[in-house]
Amino acid sequence: MTFLEGGFILAIRSIMMSTLMGAALVATLVTASVTTLGTAALAADDTQTFAEARKVASAVPPKLLEVLAAEIDKGGLAHAIGVCRDKAPQMAKEASEKSGWQIRRVSLKNRNPKAVPDSWEKAALEDFDRRVAAGENPAGIEKAEVVTEGGAKLARYMKALPTQDICLNCHGKAERVTPEVKARLNELYPDDKGTGYGLGQVRGAITIKRPI
Ligand code: HEC
Repeated sequence: MTFLEGGFILAIRSIMMSTLMGAALVATLVTASVTTLGTAALAADDTQTFAEARKVASAVPPKLLEVLAAEIDKGGLAHAIGVCRDKAPQMAKEASEKSGWQIRRVSLKNRNPKAVPDSWEKAALEDFDRRVAAGENPAGIEKAEVVTEGGAKLARYMKALPTQDICLNCHGKAERVTPEVKARLNELYPDDKGTGYGLGQVRGAITIKRPI
């Protein structure tokens, strides 16, 4: 799916199609399924909202990766654990304040006990995993939807965070994670579920929302 080729309405529709129903259904069916799920169809305004959401959500991971790589270079992996622990939430907070979107990271196999997905996020993450298993490139996977929660209309957007080689140092299989890193992770996250990953899997997602 490419979003850079204009036609955001089509792009957003196609997100919803692949997310909700699989790739090959017609637009009328999409509208029907959206209604069934209690979500509003996307209007032209929403396409602009989600273009902004994509921009906001896409800005954080590269910055974090840069800091992570620099800190690994500087002080080694066990030291860099602190970056993911402190800098990631801090960067999310700053981006939230700047953009007006509420931003956080979630995972089906969360490390931070607070990074548990809600039901909308869980369904999206399960769908992301299915799509990757079916051969889709995890780097492009996202979901955008207007939902009503507690009487409020929200724009919600999620972007998959795929594992790259560097991630496996702290999220990989047992043979990849050094005893030092393992010990530090055990200490900080006794209920850590965030290991055992291979390359190109969905480690989790950036999830963002705001009222509309
Ligand atoms: C130096 C170790 C380290 C590396 C490298 C690393 N992470 Fe993490 N990751 C962590 C730690 C520690 C946390 C928990 C942070 C916290 O307390 O919020 C975490 C949390 C996360 C979360 C939030 C969900 C959860 O499980 O708590 C995601 C998503 C994530 N990492 C993805 C990645 C991706 C993708 C990469 C590679 C681009 C990566 N990480 C590289 C250590 C690392």
